Amino acid sequence: MPLRTMTMADIPAGLRLKEIAGWNQTAADWKRFLEASPEGCFVAEEDERVCGTATTISFENRFAWVGMVLVDPQYRGRGIGTQLLKRAIEYLDGLKIPAIKLDATPQGKPLYEKLEFVCEYEIERWTLRRPPSEAAKVYGFGAAVPLSPELLESICKADQEVFGADRGFLLKSLHEDAPEFTAEVGNDGRIEGYAFGRRGSFADHLGPWMAKDATGACQLLERFVAHSSRGVQTVDYLKSNAIAGDLLRSFGFCFSRSLTRMYRGSNDHPGRSELLCAILGPEFG
Ligand SMILES: CC(C)(COP(=O)(O)OP(=O)(O)OC[C@H]1O[C@@H](n2cnc3c(N)ncnc32)[C@H](O)[C@@H]1OP(=O)(O)O)[C@@H](O)C(=O)NCCC(=O)NCCS
Repeated sequence: MPLRTMTMADIPAGLRLKEIAGWNQTAADWKRFLEASPEGCFVAEEDERVCGTATTISFENRFAWVGMVLVDPQYRGRGIGTQLLKRAIEYLDGLKIPAIKLDATPQGKPLYEKLEFVCEYEIERWTLRRPPSEAAKVYGFGAAVPLSPELLESICKADQEVFGADRGFLLKSLHEDAPEFTAEVGNDGRIEGYAFGRRGSFADHLGPWMAKDATGACQLLERFVAHSSRGVQTVDYLKSNAIAGDLLRSFGFCFSRSLTRMYRGSNDHPGRSELLCAILGPEFG
């Protein structure tokens, strides 16, 4: 099966595959991968048609993320997923990146285990469904207050410690596309919590969502839900975070699917996951 580097011209093909899988990414997300890693995203092609994808993003050469491992159902079980993954690993090994991380679906997990990925922690996707007419008025929030560039910079800095590497370029791009979802809770100039969001293809997605206490976590979730005018909201929360779990339940979110955070190599920059309510998303970390 021939593999090649993915280009911007392949975005419609990538969208087709993620649509079949029922995933929430948009063309803007595919663009984020290709801009961050123009040589590090791959497609498998058969009969001049893209039948598989895999993306990579490196974070400060501390670790890299593998995402969007997708194979057309008609072509599954022939080793294409494994081949794409091996190509991504080969590319990242060539850059001498010490760790590769990803968030695996139950379907993807056996593939990764065979290639020496091990579990770090469990994540769950939870979903809130409500009539769109209820949106934006539930909690009576007004229009989003614009965030100053200085505050955005401080949030990105705070996120480095939580995530384990600088991913300011991604957070700024999320903020640019959906500034109404960026929020912060602070105390005396110290950042106690922050949240970003994305408008996905079928749901508004909250993440990353970080808070040092339950009050901050609640404020950020409340604000996200209030600023979303969609009928569906999703969040990928860390199962170990009891505060986030309780809040999601009390807001009416329900379990959708499980994910496993995995890594291969030396996980020297794990970040501070105990502060994290929800990840950015399985494709980005
Ligand atoms: C997960 C996914 C990418 C796997 O793609 P795939 O191309 O079917 O993967 P592979 O063919 O490499 O491996 C799948 C199985 O086929 C087997 N296989 C590999 N080569 C084979 C071959 N030549 N002939 C027959 N079987 C083969 C593998 O051993 C594996 O078996 P297992 O299920 O017992 O582990 C695909 O199922 C998919 O797109 N799922 C939906 C999206 C998703 O969940 N992606 C993972 C995100 S983390």
